[in-house]
Order: sequence, then structure tokens, then C-alpha cells
Amino acid sequence: MTAKEIVIEAGQELRGYVEETLTVELRSGKAEIFGTELAINHKYQFTSGMKFAIFTYWGCTVNIISPREDYYVARDENPMHIYLNVHGMLEQLRQKADVEKTRGPRIMITGASDAGKSTICRMLVNWAARLGRTPILVDLDVGQNQISIPGTIAAMVVRRPASVEEGFRIEMPLVFHYGYKTPSENIGLYNEIVSSMATYVNIRSENVEKSLISGVVVNTCGYIQHEGYELFKHVAKAFDVDIIVVLDSEWLATKLTSDLPSVKLISLPKSGGVVAKDAAKDKFRENKIREYFYGPKNNICPHVFTMEFSEIKIYKIGAPQIPDSCLPAGMILKNPYNKILPIAPSNALVHHVLSVSSSNDPEQLLTKNILGFVVVQHVDADKRTLTLLSPQPNVTNKLLLVSDTLFVDMK
Ligand SMILES: Nc1ncnc2c1ncn2[C@@H]1O[C@H](COP(=O)(O)OP(=O)(O)OP(=O)(O)O)[C@@H](O)[C@H]1O
Ligand SMILES: [Mg+2]
Repeated sequence: MTAKEIVIEAGQELRGYVEETLTVELRSGKAEIFGTELAINHKYQFTSGMKFAIFTYWGCTVNIISPREDYYVARDENPMHIYLNVHGMLEQLRQKADVEKTRGPRIMITGASDAGKSTICRMLVNWAARLGRTPILVDLDVGQNQISIPGTIAAMVVRRPASVEEGFRIEMPLVFHYGYKTPSENIGLYNEIVSSMATYVNIRSENVEKSLISGVVVNTCGYIQHEGYELFKHVAKAFDVDIIVVLDSEWLATKLTSDLPSVKLISLPKSGGVVAKDAAKDKFRENKIREYFYGPKNNICPHVFTMEFSEIKIYKIGAPQIPDSCLPAGMILKNPYNKILPIAPSNALVHHVLSVSSSNDPEQLLTKNILGFVVVQHVDADKRTLTLLSPQPNVTNKLLLVSDTLFVDMK
């Protein structure tokens, strides 16, 4: 395999969808991947399934080593300059907030599925971090979360740009349990944890001046029709956002402009590099969980241990909705979505991810953040024990929440 030298002209992008492995080295000029600058003469390695785009503002030369031609230079127009203008606008607002000691910009990114929402969020916080800002990134995407594993919403203070190969190195993210990969599974619960997250983010902003000025970037799911639309409005209100970006959806932009007139709305085009691949999403989800237990470079060894049923308590949030026709006449069943149900350990839990709550009170399981995750590997009903996969040698809290997310450990 020989290296191929490629010149990328100013304003252009080299895009790759890696089939096996691919190595990139910046030889001259300046370039970045999703907002993180590439170091000169450093070899970056990408593995199967990864997509990336090397953008250069001034022009550059790169060496690429790959067994396949799974990359190309997009010579056509790309929207990076438009995205950079959004960053420029946010930075001006931060400078103003800095002078006036007020709140910096809060921006929410919306749009249909596979529009490049998560990528824009990553770029905006990376560009901000490169200027010494510390924005809060909130990822409300329960299917493809950049900060935590599927089935959760999460937030982190971004102090430095994401790693080119590994994404955000997560230092103490704030994570809430949801349990499903789409908000439509339990809209009520989703809205409630979004509100809890917004409360925590407000507390952080109020207490740390740098966070207040740097602002918040909120990523959302691509679920925009029906209740999905209502959900956007809830997120916008909960986080009190000043700006909403709508990617590639005239319909959503028109509706949000009329429904939220006090919020600045920016419509942006989708990048030609964004590729929709449903199978890749399952792989992304599996990789995220694998990374949690085994590390991004497969260099961490998780623990497997057995616990007695009596040592932990497992709960599920949300009872199935009972149709009104099945209830006695006149009876109204209140809030089954946030009902906290104790679950008896059984074989049905095998391969399920369980979230370890920070709460010691079952009544507060909904609104308290979580400390980490374990996976049930085996349940022995006779011995009344569970075997768990965990990054730590023990479970740090007694109360666990069951998620629909499965992880089959093939190692
Ligand atoms: N300019 C680009 N060139 C090549 N690949 C890109 C580019 N922009 C984004 N991608 C890739 O396209 C895929 C989809 O983008 P992204 O995840 O940002 O979309 P999304 O709107 O957040 O999707 P979802 O609806 O699943 O949340 C990602 O794997 C991302 O790395
Ligand atoms: Mg996304």
C-alpha cells in the first residue's frame, strides 16, 4: 500500500467513507476535520465505517494510505463557509456577552434525519474551543448520542476540540437515562428529562462565568413530524434558546418561524458529504457501547462479576399506555409514562444495558443523573444472582434502570 499525495484547494473538502482502514497525514498547509485542526506530519487512522471530511480554508496537501479509493475531493460548492459564518456570529455574541457580563448565545440545531446536525454541533463547539471558549454541548439525540451511549441524553463542557479519531473525550458528562432509541417511544418521559437537563445546564451557566458567556449548543434528534415537532418547541423553551438552526427543511423552518417568533431562525443547506446509512447507525450504536466498556482503542479491560438479587434494585420507567376503552367507565389513568416500576431480575434482562442511578430514592430516579452503565450477562434464578459487565469492579449505587438498549458482548 503506497501513500497517495493529494492537493486540496482552498475552500474544498476531501471526503471519505472508510471501508477497511485509512491513514491521513497533513504534509503542508492547514486543514481540519469537523472543526478540529490536523497536526502537521501526524498520521491519523480511521477504521471501517468511519466517515470524515478534511476541510481546508487556505489549501493543503495530504498523504492518504488506503487499500481502496474510498475517498474523493469534492470540487463542487460546499456549505462550510456558511457554517463558519454561523460560528462568526456566535463569537460576536460571546464577545458582547463578555463585555456586558450577560448570557452568551444558546443555539439549537434541528432538521430531518441525516442532515448533518450532529456534525454541525461538533464543528461549532470545536471552533469555539479553539478560541478558548468553553461552551456546553447538550446532545438530546437518544439514537446517535455523541457524548454518551444510546438511550440517554447528555451534556458536557467542551474545553478542547474533539479528538479527530475518537470524537469527544468524555470528562464527567452529565447523563440522564431515557431507555429507548427514539423519543416517540415515551414522549412524556423524554420531555421530562429534557427539562431536568435544562435545569442542570442553567445552574452550571449561572455559577461559572466562562460557561455563561460561552453559551450552549443543543443537538436534537431528526424526528420532526407530529409529536416530534412539539418536542422541538419544548426543547427550545426549556433551554431558552436564542437561535435555532434548521438544516435542509423548508417546512420546519416555516413552522418554527411562525410558532417561535422571538427566536432567531437560520436555515442552512445540507452538506453533500452527509450520507444516510441506516445499517451504519446500528453499528454506530454498538460501537458507542463497546467504546464505553472497552475504551476507544480497545485498550480497557472491563470487569465481569456476580451480584446477589438482594444487593441491587432494578426499575423501569414508564408503564405501557392502557387504552381508555379498557378502563372502567370514567376512570382516567394519570401519567403512566413516568411510572417507576420495580423489575424482578429474570432471563429477560440478559444483554440489556442498565443505567446506574445517582439517586438513592426510587421516587427521584427520573430527575437524577446517572453515574454509569452495566450490562446483564447472565441471570441465575436458582442461585438468585446476576452476572454483570461493568467498567468498574463494583456497582457504585444500588438503584439501576433498565434500558431497551442491548449489548451482546462477543469478546
Ligand atoms: N462533509 C461531510 N463529508 C463526509 N461525511 C460527512 C460530512 N458531514 C457529515 N458527514 C457524516 O455523515 C454522517 C451523518 O451526519 P450527522 O450524524 O451529522 O447527521 P445527523 O443529521 O446528525 O444524523 P441523525 O439524524 O442520525 O442524527 C456522519 O457519519 C458524519 O460523520
Ligand atoms: Mg445526529
